[in-house]
Amino acid sequence: MTPDRIGIMGAMDAEITEFLGHADLIESTEWRGFTFHTVRLEGREAVLVKSGIGKVFSALVSQHLIDAFAPEALIFTGVAGALNPAYEIGDVVISRDCIQHDVDGRALGFARGNLLYTDLKIFAADPDLARIALSADAVGHNIRSGRILTGDQFMTRDQINHHRYLVDELHGDAVEMEGGAMAQVCAVNGIPFVVVRTISDRADGDAVEDFNRFLPEVARNSFAIVRHILSRLPRSA
Ligand code: ADE
Repeated sequence: MTPDRIGIMGAMDAEITEFLGHADLIESTEWRGFTFHTVRLEGREAVLVKSGIGKVFSALVSQHLIDAFAPEALIFTGVAGALNPAYEIGDVVISRDCIQHDVDGRALGFARGNLLYTDLKIFAADPDLARIALSADAVGHNIRSGRILTGDQFMTRDQINHHRYLVDELHGDAVEMEGGAMAQVCAVNGIPFVVVRTISDRADGDAVEDFNRFLPEVARNSFAIVRHILSRLPRSA
């Protein structure tokens, strides 16, 4: 793999502003109210975009990014809630794989997370992208390889008590709202991907308070890891 142009997505302003502040802007283009910024960062071209929150926005923007900019890989960056008790706020989780936890066709005989009438459930991240990401330094925090669960719900302690399956059945390490949808789009298009998320809260703890408090600070950790990926990716001749 020799990715020259990389697509970088974040759901919220706080998750992409750090990039815009550090990259050289080449041009910005608008599509359906989304702004795609073509930048140079670490000697490489990247297309940065804020998707908005949730699976539909993530899928919509991923597909347009692929169609209009032909990136060789996609990275989703931002924050996530911890499910794994060992994870702490500020730790970075690199997707080993993603599952959409709110896909539920069990009434029709499908396993939870299995997209109905397909054999798609676990979307594996690109091993090279994940390996490079894991070699980064999270400066004072742990960097971990984990399973990221995606769904259109912000998970709090109350919710988790009704969603024990996130850990017990799906073995999730972190939960967020976009990565698994981008992963599905990448699988359909045959594009490598990785999700880089910094833990902003414990999904089974004081998620709302911690999320609001730590979002700007921890979003910076994800930026450092993505920058590291860009600097280490092999280049085409
Ligand atoms: N993103 C960050 N924290 C989250 C949580 N607790 N649930 C879903 N998405 C999140």
